Amino acid sequence: MKVDSLSAASVSGLLSTAWAGRPVVFEKEVDSTNLMVRRLADQGMPHGTLALAELQMAGRGRRGREWFSPEGSGIWMSLLLRPALAAEKISMLTIITAMAVYDGLAPLVSDLSIKWPNDLLIGQKKVCGILTEMVPSESSLPLVVVGIGINVNTEDFPEDLAEIATSLRAAAGKSFDRSRIIADIMQAFEARYAQLTACGDLRDMREAYEDRLVCKKRRINMISPAGVTSGTAEGIDDLGHLLVRMADGSLQSVMSGEISVRNSN
Ligand code: BTN
Repeated sequence: MKVDSLSAASVSGLLSTAWAGRPVVFEKEVDSTNLMVRRLADQGMPHGTLALAELQMAGRGRRGREWFSPEGSGIWMSLLLRPALAAEKISMLTIITAMAVYDGLAPLVSDLSIKWPNDLLIGQKKVCGILTEMVPSESSLPLVVVGIGINVNTEDFPEDLAEIATSLRAAAGKSFDRSRIIADIMQAFEARYAQLTACGDLRDMREAYEDRLVCKKRRINMISPAGVTSGTAEGIDDLGHLLVRMADGSLQSVMSGEISVRNSN
């Protein structure tokens, strides 16, 4: 059920940022807002442009998965960024995005946490996913697309997601104005981005990130093409890599991948 009305004006009217979400480009229906950003970049749209859609016909998740993006209840948006960051530092943008989404959602629900590197959970269930993509570009600065999907007022999930996904509405028992949430996240993103670019890494938000991390000091499985290994998550380093204590006592720095939190030791 659609409970609010989303448009470029509904978001822009609430923004108090200098550049994040300026401008907002809204489409009622797109394939994917990450693809929309690529097209906007080809048209010369600036750093900070926000692509926003009411419905995605081909919403994409990590590892080629489909992203459930129904009309009228979620936030499906992507930021166009041209960061002055070296390629090996681009993954830090996922970390600051997770922080910004957390900043925006924390006043609305309890039991919110970050699952490294790109998910936000309420309790054990996923409420937000982030898909960061670096696109080959002729410009001197790389084109980076940060896609954010948030289940806001979603009431029903398909059977395969019902056990693992949730929405703000399901958690809080009431509906939310998506434009307000988007504006708050843009505000938080701009502040987190400034923190990152001031020193070039995550040292200034590492502690806060670790406090929000669902798996800190917990046993996790790390899933990679090479197989599954397990260890205890200790936190992140200044580059946003997950630090994992292995059974032999060594500390491993994990750059990317998927983790699952183990229920027991
Ligand atoms: C994941 O958890 O697998 C990442 C999901 C990212 C979904 C968002 S919705 C907006 C943007 N457009 C897409 O096609 N994907 C991202």
